[in-house]
Amino acid sequence: MIIETKNLTHKYSVGTPFEKVALDNINLQIEEGAYVGLIGHTGSGKSTLISHLNAILQPTEGQVLIDGTDLWACSKAERIATRFKVGLVFQYPEYQLFEETVYKDIAFGPKNMKLSDEEIERRVRSSLAFVGLKESLLEKSPFDLSGGQKRRVAIAGVMALEPKVLILDEPAAGLDPKGRDEILARLRDYHKETGSTVLLVSHSMEDIARNAQSAIVMEDGRLKMHAPVEEVFRHTDELTAMGLDVPQITRVFFSLKEKGYDVSTDIYTIEAAKREILSHLKGGKHRD
Ligand SMILES: Nc1ncnc2c1ncn2[C@@H]1O[C@H](COP(=O)(O)OP(=O)(O)OP(=O)(O)O)[C@@H](O)[C@H]1O
Ligand SMILES: [Mg+2]
Repeated sequence: MIIETKNLTHKYSVGTPFEKVALDNINLQIEEGAYVGLIGHTGSGKSTLISHLNAILQPTEGQVLIDGTDLWACSKAERIATRFKVGLVFQYPEYQLFEETVYKDIAFGPKNMKLSDEEIERRVRSSLAFVGLKESLLEKSPFDLSGGQKRRVAIAGVMALEPKVLILDEPAAGLDPKGRDEILARLRDYHKETGSTVLLVSHSMEDIARNAQSAIVMEDGRLKMHAPVEEVFRHTDELTAMGLDVPQITRVFFSLKEKGYDVSTDIYTIEAAKREILSHLKGGKHRD
């Protein structure tokens, strides 16, 4: 397992009237190379959970293991080395850009890793390609870029660490639909080409359905489900009760079924919907 938590509990403001159990006994296992979506209502504990995965937060109780190393039962040197295996892209990461040029911003992490100049340059160029930006941007100031481009530079800066696990907290938040689709498509390619583990935090069930292989659902600090995406979306009623919404296209198929059409309800993407409708029209399946 690349990521494992055992009875992980996190409380904020312990011993004050504001004490809050943000994570309640989380047992999680993520296999190396998986693309996992993490979904849950606002305040359910998603950001708290991912902050534990590269030791930004320390558990109140329980353990966090990365690639087999218990982050809080190893030496400080081991903890630092293990943290490099997990690249974390915070929400609105573009606010953390600060260098004079795009090149320097992406190179910042690899430089801290004390890599050679050639290796740093290789990583900057390959990360830039992963996020789909042109090399002509490298000498520009990040502040002259559009919002979507800045976001991509910030993501490239974390990819340049070449982490085994890339975790992104709402990487598409605040972007227009085209910018959203573009970032998510680039992440899919990154996952395919590098074989690294990707953990995508999102409020959008559709984004998770389109991109991830499995989904983790959190509610009020607890892990409610962790299963393949199809399996998770089968629990429509439970998800709706948690204030989460199954993809619109899935709801269309649920209502077609209710109206008597013999269609599958395991439909989460437009492409799958198209296939299902075409096969339905070609016959074999008839109304009532
Ligand atoms: N620094 C903090 N001090 C005290 N309580 C906190 C702190 N950070 C988060 N919390 C509380 O812990 C709970 C979990 O918060 P968290 O930010 O992990 O949720 P989230 O699922 O990431 O939410 P969102 O979808 O809004 O980003 C919430 O009740 C939140 O108010
Ligand atoms: Mg959050």
